[in-house]
Amino acid sequence: MMRSYSAPAKVILFGEHAVVFGEPAISAAIDLRSRVTVRDSAENLLNGMPLRRDSSPYAFHALELTESSPMEITVESAIPAGGGLGSSAAFSVSLVASLLGNGSPGRVAELAFNVELRSQGRASPIDTSTAVHGQGIFVSRETVANELWQISGPSGIWHIGDIRIGRMNIVIGYSGQGAATGPMVERVRKLCERFEVAREAISEIGSISLEAKRALERNDIVTLGSLMDRNQKLLSVVGVSTRRLEKLIQAVAPYSYGAKLTGAGGGGSIIALTDRPEKAAGAISLLGGVPYICRTGETGLRREEDEG
Ligand code: MEV
Repeated sequence: MMRSYSAPAKVILFGEHAVVFGEPAISAAIDLRSRVTVRDSAENLLNGMPLRRDSSPYAFHALELTESSPMEITVESAIPAGGGLGSSAAFSVSLVASLLGNGSPGRVAELAFNVELRSQGRASPIDTSTAVHGQGIFVSRETVANELWQISGPSGIWHIGDIRIGRMNIVIGYSGQGAATGPMVERVRKLCERFEVAREAISEIGSISLEAKRALERNDIVTLGSLMDRNQKLLSVVGVSTRRLEKLIQAVAPYSYGAKLTGAGGGGSIIALTDRPEKAAGAISLLGGVPYICRTGETGLRREEDEG
């Protein structure tokens, strides 16, 4: 048996970190993909190496949760790891889908979310649900229009809705500094425990996501850009921005409607909403960052090959 699936990277447009606390968030799939192939094998292998729980927790938990027999897993990915672009979610989703063979999108999203929970600790289902659905998603604790599926986690139920995100130019600026999501989520949790200003910032980020949803519905790029700038200021209040990310954001500002970090922060990437992608990319390169000129509107989980 051999099976292969691919899934896209994502950018969180609004609401990262706040979503872990139950605030709404918006995410979009972009045209960078990761592809996983599984083959029956005498032992568990990942890219030719024996698979170990400590060095490959995502693969380990995916095999365990799907109750799979031993597999040889091969990954080919265009998504920078630790770049805040959902590389682990795209991997977990493609792997779970390949192992299940015929899982429904909701089932794959739920299992892949549990892989992330077991591997990195506290998490929301935003990355994994975006990798499954593609296009754009709105995540909320409340019932949503165009609901795709619901995901239950230790802290309650999330409603995942489809949101129309047309083709927009997003330029990513990878800082070159990887950052693990789990420790960043933990840092925000501690800050919120101690400081009311951090708790207020989290709830204001939630209000921004709601405003952004309305702006997306009327395709109001200018408002979206200024909401991104506001979201970024609040992300620095909760301690996940860095000097390097701030510099990259300043550099792209003259060519952008708005810019912010995306994903967990602490390193990783920024995103700029722009109609001058080459200029924004050039500004990122000048600072030693790695630019990716991307488009939203990418398809989600996709079967690539299937041999019985
Ligand atoms: C990571 O891409 C997004 C975070 O909000 C964590 C999560 O939602 O699981 C930082």
